[in-house]
Amino acid sequence: MKVGILTISDRGVRGEYEDRSGPLITEIIGRRTSWQVSHQAIVADDVEEIKAALLAWCQEGVHLILTTGGTGFSPRDVTPEATRQVIERETPGIAEAMRAESLKVTQHAMLSRAVAGIRGQTLIVNLPGNPKAVKENMDVLLPVLPHALQLLSDHPGSESEHRTV
Ligand code: MTE
Repeated sequence: MKVGILTISDRGVRGEYEDRSGPLITEIIGRRTSWQVSHQAIVADDVEEIKAALLAWCQEGVHLILTTGGTGFSPRDVTPEATRQVIERETPGIAEAMRAESLKVTQHAMLSRAVAGIRGQTLIVNLPGNPKAVKENMDVLLPVLPHALQLLSDHPGSESEHRTV
């Protein structure tokens, strides 16, 4: 399985802030799965930049894209809007489960607008930006991912419809 990790942060792009969440996700994937992190990038909190990265990675056959950051309330938090423009089928159970479990840890989980969904054979999941929140959400997500990705890979060929996007 190929995994892409997209950090979404204006300050990260400008070098004003060291991205700790992207490397943390890479570390968790390496330690807890046999999957390969094939793509990693940082983009600004900008709908078009986020969309471009997600679409390119879907087209390049990445099976799972995990985004981190940009899911809150600030005016520049647009990760869910960009993700919605890329996915074809929303998978609300994933975001609901992450919020439900996170609410047991912090009421601030209510402020997450994260979405998850499928484009072709790629599953895209928004994670929060904070490293502690990333770890808590990965703990919820990881147990169901093997089955989710298996179901998606049982239907080969669907990404070929997107070659011209
Ligand atoms: N989920 C968990 N498990 N733990 C947290 O600390 N922080 C919340 C929420 N989800 C948090 C969490 C907060 S404070 C915000 S604002 C939203 O995620 C969105 O975070 P983001 O804007 O960094 O994406």
